[in-house]
Amino acid sequence: MIKKPGARAVIKKALSSDEAVCNASANDSFDQVLARARFGRRGFLKGSSSLAAASMLGMGLAFLTDSVQKNGKAAMAADLSFNFKPVTKNITDTLTVPEGYSARVLLATGDPIKRGVTPYKNNGTDNDFEVRAGDHHDAMQYFGMDAAGTAWDPSSSDRALLCINHEVCEDLGFVHPNGPTEYGPESTAARPQVEVDKEVAAHGVTIVELAKQGSAYDINPDSRYNRRVTATTVFDIQGPARGSAMMATAFSPSGEQTRGTLNNCGHGYTPWGTYLSGEENWAGYFHRREDDAVRTAKEVTAFDRYGIKSETSGRYNWSRFGAAGNTDLYSRWSVNKVAASADQDFRNAANTFGWVVEIDPFKPNATPKKRTGLGRMAHEGCWTAKVTPGEPLVLYTGDDARNEYIYKFVSDAKWDPKDATGGLAAGNKYLDAGTLYAAKFNDDGTGEWLPLTMRNPAIVNYADYAFADDVDVLINARLAADAAGATKMDRPEWGGVNPTNGEVYFTLTNSVSGSSGRGTQTPLDAANPRFYADAKGDKISQGNVNGHIIRWREAGNMPAAKVFEWDVYLFGAKADADASVNLSGLTGENDFSSPDGLWFSEATPGLLWIQTDDGYYTDVTNCMMLAALPGAVGDGEAKMVTNQAVPVNGDSDQTVQTYAGKTASPTLLSRFLVGPRDCEITGITESPDGKAVFVNIQHPGENSESATDPTQFTSHWPDGGNARPRSATVIITRNDGGKVAV
Ligand code: FEO
Ligand code: CA
Ligand code: CA
Ligand code: CA
Repeated sequence: MIKKPGARAVIKKALSSDEAVCNASANDSFDQVLARARFGRRGFLKGSSSLAAASMLGMGLAFLTDSVQKNGKAAMAADLSFNFKPVTKNITDTLTVPEGYSARVLLATGDPIKRGVTPYKNNGTDNDFEVRAGDHHDAMQYFGMDAAGTAWDPSSSDRALLCINHEVCEDLGFVHPNGPTEYGPESTAARPQVEVDKEVAAHGVTIVELAKQGSAYDINPDSRYNRRVTATTVFDIQGPARGSAMMATAFSPSGEQTRGTLNNCGHGYTPWGTYLSGEENWAGYFHRREDDAVRTAKEVTAFDRYGIKSETSGRYNWSRFGAAGNTDLYSRWSVNKVAASADQDFRNAANTFGWVVEIDPFKPNATPKKRTGLGRMAHEGCWTAKVTPGEPLVLYTGDDARNEYIYKFVSDAKWDPKDATGGLAAGNKYLDAGTLYAAKFNDDGTGEWLPLTMRNPAIVNYADYAFADDVDVLINARLAADAAGATKMDRPEWGGVNPTNGEVYFTLTNSVSGSSGRGTQTPLDAANPRFYADAKGDKISQGNVNGHIIRWREAGNMPAAKVFEWDVYLFGAKADADASVNLSGLTGENDFSSPDGLWFSEATPGLLWIQTDDGYYTDVTNCMMLAALPGAVGDGEAKMVTNQAVPVNGDSDQTVQTYAGKTASPTLLSRFLVGPRDCEITGITESPDGKAVFVNIQHPGENSESATDPTQFTSHWPDGGNARPRSATVIITRNDGGKVAV
C-alpha cells in the first residue's frame, strides 16, 4: 500500500512528537513555589556593568568584535539610533523591508552550489542535493576570507565563506514530484529509496564562497570550498564520549565515529574560525519498535527522556527503505536491539546525535567533529562568550523543548591567543575537556550554575537514573540537569552575548500546551512568570503564548562565574494585550510573538536583532525581524504579574513577581522586516562593514495543504507565480550603501 501525500494530519501529528514534553522531573517545582513568598533583595553583582579592561586585551583575531580596539572606546547602545521607519505588520506573501532598503535572494532550496549543476526546476525532479543548497535554511555565519583565499580573515567584507544550516526537509514534500510516500510513524511499508536519499541529502549544512561583484555578493560556483555536509557525512565523535561503549555501533564498533548531522538549527562560531551547529529535533528520526523489556531500565529511561517513543518515533521512515538493498545506511535509523551485541546493530545510534558539531569551513577535507563535552540534548545552537587570555573559554547552549534547560560549558584549557588560527585542533584543546553546567534561575533575581559531573552529590545520588560515570552524564545531560535541580524554561531558543557589556541573552519562544505546560503542570516562576489566554480567530491558546527574552550578567562579568543576576529583557505580546500580558509596553511599531533567532551585530556593537517563529499572531502578521538597542540587566523594575487563576498542583496562586527590563519604546525596538506567508525568520549574519545583512526565510507556505496543487499553496515566495515556495537566504542592503539599521 502506498500512502499518498495530502495526509497532512498524519504529518502534523508526527511532527508534534518533537515538541512533546519529556521532562517529567519535579526537581525545581516545589521550592520555587515556596520561594515566591520570600522575595528578597538582590544586588550582589552591582558595579560590574562593563567588562574588565583585561578582558578586552590580547585577543588575537578580532573575535566577537573588540570594540575597544576598533573604535577606541566601547560603543554603547545609547550612542546608536535607528535610521529606518518601522515596517508595518502584514500578511502579504512578500518580504517587506523598510523604505530605502533592498532585499535580494542569494541562495534558495535546491539552487546549485557548483558550476555545471542545472538550475533547480522546483518540481520535485532534481535528486542531486549533494550539490545543491539544502532545505529549511536556519542559522548561518559569514566567515571573512583573506585575499589569498586560504584562511579566515574576520575583517574581510570582500570575500567570505557562508555556512548555512538546513534544519529539516520540507515535511509536505515540495522536494518530491508528488509529495512523500509512506511518511509518518503510522506507515509500515517501505519508502522509495530516491525519496529517502533526497531527504537525507537535503539536511545538514551548506558551505559556499561569496564573491563580491561591485557592491553585490554572489556565489562563486568554482570555489573549492563549496560543499554540503549531510545526514550521511562521516563525523568523528570527539570529547569524553569518544570510544564509550554507549556510542558503539556496527558502523564504528569502537564508538569513535558516526554518520550524519540532523536538524541543524541555531549556530555559533569559535575564536579559531570554525562553525558550530546545534543538532535540535533529532529524536523523531529514530525508529524504536521493540518491547521495553529487551532493553535495560536505564536505556528505557533515557529513551523516554529524549522522546524516542515506540509509538511515534521515526517520522521520516528512513529506516524503512526496506528493499533488497537495505544496507545499514538506512537501517541505522532504527535503534531496535536486533543483534547479539551493540557493535553489530544500531541500538546506540541515537546516542551519536544531539550534539554541538564543529565544522572547519576552510578545511574541506577535514572530518567534522561532534563535541560531546557540551552535552546531549535538543541543541538549538552554541554561543561563545568573549575570550580573555589566561581564562577558560565559555560557551552557552540551550535545549529547545518545553520545560528544558539552559546550559554552559567552561573549558579546562585557558585561552591562548595563538590558538586563534588553530582550526579543529584548537577545538580539541578547548571543547573536549571542561565542565558542563545547567542554569538555576532563583526567584530573587539571582541565579547559579549547577555542575553536571559525578562530583555533584545530587547527580551521584539521583534516584531516577544511576549514572555510571561522567560520560553517562554528558550523554544523558537532560537527566543530569533534572538531578542537579535546574530551572525548567519556556523553550530555550537562541542565545547571544552582548559585545558591549558581556551580558547573555536567551530567547524563550513560548510554552503553550494545554494540560502539560507552564501554569498548568509546570508552576510559574519568576523567570517564566506568565500564563494567559490568547485568541487567534476562534482558537484560544493558554500559557506563555508569546514568549520572552531572558538575560543575565555573570558575577564580576566573568563568563566562568558560578552565579549571576538576571532579568527579563522583553516580553512578547500583542500591542493591544492587557498590561498584565504586555509587560514590556510594546506598541504597533514593535509588537511581536515567539522570539527565536537572536543575534548581536559585531559591526555595530550594541545593535541586537530579534527574529520570530510564530503561530499565534499570524492572523495579523507574518513572522518578522526587529532591531533592538538593549540596555543592561536591572534597567527596569520588579513587577507583579497577575495571571489567570488556574490551579497548578493544587496551588491556585498565580500571582508571580518577576524582574522586567525597561519599557521597549519604538526608539529602542523597531520592526525591520516582515517575511512572506507561513514562514519563519531565522538565521542572520552580516558583512564586517555592517553594510550587508544576511537573513534566512525558512519554510514559506508551511501550512499549505498540498505539495502539488498551486491553488493550495499558502505562499509562492520567492519565485512567485504558481511556483512551489522555497526557503532562501536573502541579502539586505541600504540603497545609499550605508550601514544597515543604524
Ligand atoms: Fe529549530 Fe528551536 O528552533
Ligand atoms: Ca530556532
Ligand atoms: Ca522555533
Ligand atoms: Ca521552523
